[in-house]
Amino acid sequence: MVRAWFLDSEGNPGRHLSLDELKKEAGVRYHQLNMKTFHTDGRIQQIQREEQFMYHDVIEIAPDKLPNYEDRVRGFHTEHLHPEEEIRMVIDGSTYFDVRDSHDDWIRIKMNPGDLLILPPGIYHRLTLDEESPDVAIYRLFKTKPVWTSVNRSSSESVSSDNSEFNSNSHSFESESSDNSE
Ligand SMILES: [Fe+2]
Repeated sequence: MVRAWFLDSEGNPGRHLSLDELKKEAGVRYHQLNMKTFHTDGRIQQIQREEQFMYHDVIEIAPDKLPNYEDRVRGFHTEHLHPEEEIRMVIDGSTYFDVRDSHDDWIRIKMNPGDLLILPPGIYHRLTLDEESPDVAIYRLFKTKPVWTSVNRSSSESVSSDNSEFNSNSHSFESESSDNSE
């Protein structure tokens, strides 16, 4: 089962959240899939139909499998948002998805095989590698063929506590688009 907890300003772990709280605080939805029956049970196809995300691929994050590994991992870890939902499932290894809640606090979500997250549009997030399992394979769902639009958060941006609508309009951006879709 997926686990999620708050991170303090130093990055230290804090209180754990339930799945209901994760949805309430950050708008993040969760599904648990069975990796043993993943290819035959139809769950992923059902989610694709429900969310209308009809394309998918698998990204393998490992030094010998991902070109420009260091740059890509740095990009994944850069806080960013997408104008559309982001749907990701770990299929091998483990990793952390960090998401900002409505108070701009970090929530860390530990993802193991079979854990599927649906991040709402416009939520700031990043991927942080699990040092104990840095090689990870992630199944990515897309609404259309991937176009790699993500918006990095400006390092000079003053943090607003009012992003309860996950509204990106009030933020400044350092780039309009980059290929750091983890
Ligand atoms: Fe992303």
